[in-house]
Amino acid sequence: MTGPHDQPADPAAGSVTARPWGATAEGVELHLYDLAVPGGIAATISDLGGIVTHLHVPGADGLVGDVVLGHDEPGPYLGRAESPYFGALIGRYGNRIRAGRFNLDGHEYTLATNNGPNALHGGPGGFDQQVWTARPAVGEDGPALELRLVSPDGDEGYPGTLDVTVTYTVTRPTGGDLGGLRIEYVATTDAPTVVNLTNHSYFNLVGDASRDVLGHELTLHADQFTPVDDTLIPTGELRDVTGTPFDFRAGRAVGDLIDDADVQLAYGGGYDHNLVLRGEGLRVVGEVHEPRSGRVMEVRTTEPGVQFYSGNFLDGSIRGKRGRAYGPRWALCLETQHFPDSPNHPNFPSTVLRPGETYRSRTEYVFSVRTTKGS
Ligand code: GLA
Repeated sequence: MTGPHDQPADPAAGSVTARPWGATAEGVELHLYDLAVPGGIAATISDLGGIVTHLHVPGADGLVGDVVLGHDEPGPYLGRAESPYFGALIGRYGNRIRAGRFNLDGHEYTLATNNGPNALHGGPGGFDQQVWTARPAVGEDGPALELRLVSPDGDEGYPGTLDVTVTYTVTRPTGGDLGGLRIEYVATTDAPTVVNLTNHSYFNLVGDASRDVLGHELTLHADQFTPVDDTLIPTGELRDVTGTPFDFRAGRAVGDLIDDADVQLAYGGGYDHNLVLRGEGLRVVGEVHEPRSGRVMEVRTTEPGVQFYSGNFLDGSIRGKRGRAYGPRWALCLETQHFPDSPNHPNFPSTVLRPGETYRSRTEYVFSVRTTKGS
């Protein structure tokens, strides 16, 4: 599967190797691709949904741990049998659209609703359930996997044929870090449509998901968040985080205020909110530090928002890799994105894509280690 051109002579450049991974119920063959950089990190990614199934990152003790939730087999991912979007690419529209309806250029579009009254994460047959065409390569920045999907006009109710390419790259270590996982999204359409692509990795930096993430320290450079109603649809307000449990500007443990009597936290059962990121262009928007392992994950993105989800819907019923039961708040997601329900909020940054335009988005999760003083 990977021809000789994919593997440069210099092993330090990293490698991509493919292996079979079963098939869908319809008999479409699935594969896993291992992207690895010596002395850096290693990711395993499937052509099913572009799912990042494993992400191996060294801790301060030098021992490598897997920092994402997921499964070893495809079965639990198919039909989302036991996967609330673990590690997957999300499209066409990440997060919720109110009542699955929006108006574009005077046309009313109706999407399938799959989350109470709302449409979530692209619908029942969203991009996480599609088999993408994969092309592995070792590029200048590290081993990469290019995934392509052509979503037909009317797919899940969305207008326009959307041609999407997502490129994952495991980047090489630099002086200051261990390298990271870069995700680049490019899309074009043949008719006006809306697009909001993201990746839904569930991170647990302890390694091998041996406990919850309440002790993870989160920093987000966000001065505002978008409050929601009881179905998690933004009200349209941009609210100052000052004095609220959503103020992560100075860094705080995820569990510090998560059980505060706060109506927004009550709606989400914890954090499940979009924060408005400061600045624009590719920039560092925050980090997660796990004090026991010393692992640090810096988040860089071109997107204006991030959905911080604290794994509130995990309840221990899903058993993932190593037979681990994933309990409440066993992972956190930082889904870089445009704001939820943007098609229905003219005051939010636009998610409209028109013929002749190119949608581009980039997110990087960059790893390093930092030990707390005295430990
Ligand atoms: C997103 C949503 C959550 C939840 C998860 C998947 O983060 O905002 O409410 O649906 O996806 O379970």
